[in-house]
Amino acid sequence: MASLERPHAVADRYSAVLRLLPAPLQAILRLRSAVVLGALVVVLRVVLSRSRRKSRKITDFERIARPVRGGEKTGASEYDVVLVGGGTAGCVLASRLSENPKLRVLLIEAGGSSVHNPFSRVPALYHRFFHTGYDWEIFTTPQEHAASKRKYWPRGRMLGGCSSMNAMIFHHGAPTDFDEWAAMQKGQEGASEWQYENFSKYFRKFEKFHPSKDYSLVDVALRGSAGPVNVGYFGNNSETTQHFLEACHNAGLERSPDLNTAKGTLGSSKVLTFIDSQGRRVTTESAYLTPEVLARPNLVIATHAQVTRILFEGAEGEAPRAVGVQFQDRKGELFEVRAKREVIISAGAIHTPQILMLSGIGPADHLSSFNIHVLVDHPGVGAHLMDHPVIDFHFRDKTKSRMSALSYDAQKFGKVDPAAVLKQLAYFAEYKIWASGPLTTNVAEAAAFTRSDDAGLLAKAGVTLPAPDDLEDSTSGSGAPDIEIFFTPMSYIEHGRVPFPPGHHVGVHTVLLRPTSTGTVRLQSAKPSDAPIVDPKYFATQHDITVLVRAARLVAHIINTAPFSSATLDPAGSSDTSGLLNHNLAQQSDAEIEALIRDRVETLYHPACTARMAPREDGGVVDPLLRVHGVQGLRVCDASVFPTITSGHTASPTIALAERAADIILGAYGE
Ligand SMILES: Cc1cc2nc3c(=O)[nH]c(=O)nc-3n(C[C@H](O)[C@H](O)[C@H](O)COP(=O)(O)OP(=O)(O)OC[C@H]3O[C@@H](n4cnc5c(N)ncnc54)[C@H](O)[C@@H]3O)c2cc1C
Ligand SMILES: *[C@@H]1O[C@H](CO)[C@@H](O)[C@H](O)[C@H]1NC(C)=O
Ligand SMILES: *[C@@H]1O[C@H](CO)[C@@H](O)[C@H](O)[C@H]1NC(C)=O
Repeated sequence: MASLERPHAVADRYSAVLRLLPAPLQAILRLRSAVVLGALVVVLRVVLSRSRRKSRKITDFERIARPVRGGEKTGASEYDVVLVGGGTAGCVLASRLSENPKLRVLLIEAGGSSVHNPFSRVPALYHRFFHTGYDWEIFTTPQEHAASKRKYWPRGRMLGGCSSMNAMIFHHGAPTDFDEWAAMQKGQEGASEWQYENFSKYFRKFEKFHPSKDYSLVDVALRGSAGPVNVGYFGNNSETTQHFLEACHNAGLERSPDLNTAKGTLGSSKVLTFIDSQGRRVTTESAYLTPEVLARPNLVIATHAQVTRILFEGAEGEAPRAVGVQFQDRKGELFEVRAKREVIISAGAIHTPQILMLSGIGPADHLSSFNIHVLVDHPGVGAHLMDHPVIDFHFRDKTKSRMSALSYDAQKFGKVDPAAVLKQLAYFAEYKIWASGPLTTNVAEAAAFTRSDDAGLLAKAGVTLPAPDDLEDSTSGSGAPDIEIFFTPMSYIEHGRVPFPPGHHVGVHTVLLRPTSTGTVRLQSAKPSDAPIVDPKYFATQHDITVLVRAARLVAHIINTAPFSSATLDPAGSSDTSGLLNHNLAQQSDAEIEALIRDRVETLYHPACTARMAPREDGGVVDPLLRVHGVQGLRVCDASVFPTITSGHTASPTIALAERAADIILGAYGE
């Protein structure tokens, strides 16, 4: 990894060393590296062209669409269903809908494939995608209530979308999250199927659980066994993770045999992950767009094609009908395709509202300010943005594990340490040969879920709740959490962007699962290539801070509980004066902790709710069958339709949602 991180530094050092050698030897060595490099390029090209030939992913758009300016279409440009965005939900839909051979399906994705890219397949390497062409690289507006800083939001720009770069945690959320979704639909057609009792079958539908003798308390009968998505406890399980889990248990956050059942998600456990038995990340591209699926004649996938707007037709007095989309290639050339039955937008919680607004569906005054013709005034589009803020706490690791120095040591400080490079190469070999070791980690290895009104638990952490406790309960039910605390056997600052001091460190992180602050996604301009303006309005309510201060008290309690306190915490960390390490968290005042929270908040990468499923009079954008209110032939299917954010990780609910959407759509068009 180190050698990948700073190729220039490596090259510089290499040249410096070469220059010390006699000239003929220098020449030979330079020639040899040129030959090696050349051979590498040839091998890469062969591998890449092979994978390209195998897939039916198309970038020659004149074969599938009609160029807008001049030119004749040379192939079909009409499909039954046009899917916009081949991300987490989009790949599920493409695969499921094309199971019906009579439905001609076109999937349009702005990025390319990632299924052969090591950064998407090797679990620990996903952060290598950050700030690259595989990332939309969104930055929020300066956060008024969070030290006025802009926050970086990675978003996958490739097939599989964020599932190709996420932390691989498989988590349903709390069952009552989905009961709440159903209740918010106020009896519209299809509402009750969202309640957990009914919707949970879609979680099981996508899952293929691999039992493990180390987790024998998991009731296999409750897990999915025949779905395309392999999940299990395959990722790395660090010694420090064990210390954390035992400390959670001893602190009163009891071990849960399985966080993903109808019994609820309170408690602590090693997380279940989207990692297969060979130690590879499972993305929705790898799981759903298999070679068999790609070989279907009724499925076409256009990659490196960015949708710029939805096309509508309709007679006066009728609801407009979506009849296709316009998209552009990498050079900005425009194409059009038609959708006979419908268009489905699955571009994620940031870009779905952008596309809707560019197409004239959004808040009228906002659209008018850019001279965009208002097709339907929809105040809910881009409104009610919800995310999970996370606070990272850092601690020095006494075990000096291989993990706690992983990728955050010398290399990030700009000095390439040959020993570190060798270590990384050894890890890669271990990964390749045995599918084990540090690179199999999903980073966040264990988690605990709890409530900010758990008086008994907080009392153990030295917090006496006020009586009566006037803090608003924002959870989805009395058995659902609003706080998550998770553990990483290494640590990082700002998603790894800022160098971490050398040495061994672990991270304990706390997440606000049920914020009451909500934000917006707005257009920056009428140009599709301009990123939308994202403002999550972190900590606009005092509620959100109060919950996180209580959560920080729980973190302090856990780290000071055995065996974490004795076996993982390096006491030398207590004398740190940099302000980075948090060994003295328990000694800090509420005001100091609040300042730390406002300063350090980052995203847990879960934006949602920007095209909510709810009745139109409640600001909803789609109905329970995911049809956009006020138009025909248009659905939205991705995390933007979450009526409210789940109290957990958002990938699994998104996949389950897409499975349900596919069922609805296949049902609507018959066999
Ligand atoms: C770094 C990171 C870590 C995470 N960790 C976890 C985790 O451990 N567990 C978990 O449950 N969740 C996790 N999440 C969140 C989870 O992955 C997302 O909530 C989920 O994948 C969202 O799926 P989606 O289908 O809504 O959007 P996406 O997966 O983002 O898909 C949107 C797709 O649309 C494409 N697109 C956008 N605009 C256009 C356009 N104009 N034209 C064509 N295509 C377009 C994008 O390129 C993308 O492929 C993480 C996310 C990130 C980024
Ligand atoms: C919901 O699930 C219950 C129990 O499985 C079942 O009896 C009921 O028919 C389902 N309702 C719908 C609308 O599918
Ligand atoms: C995980 O990594 C640690 C430390 O690098 C190692 O000791 C352990 O064996 C690994 N565990 C698995 C399950 O691969």
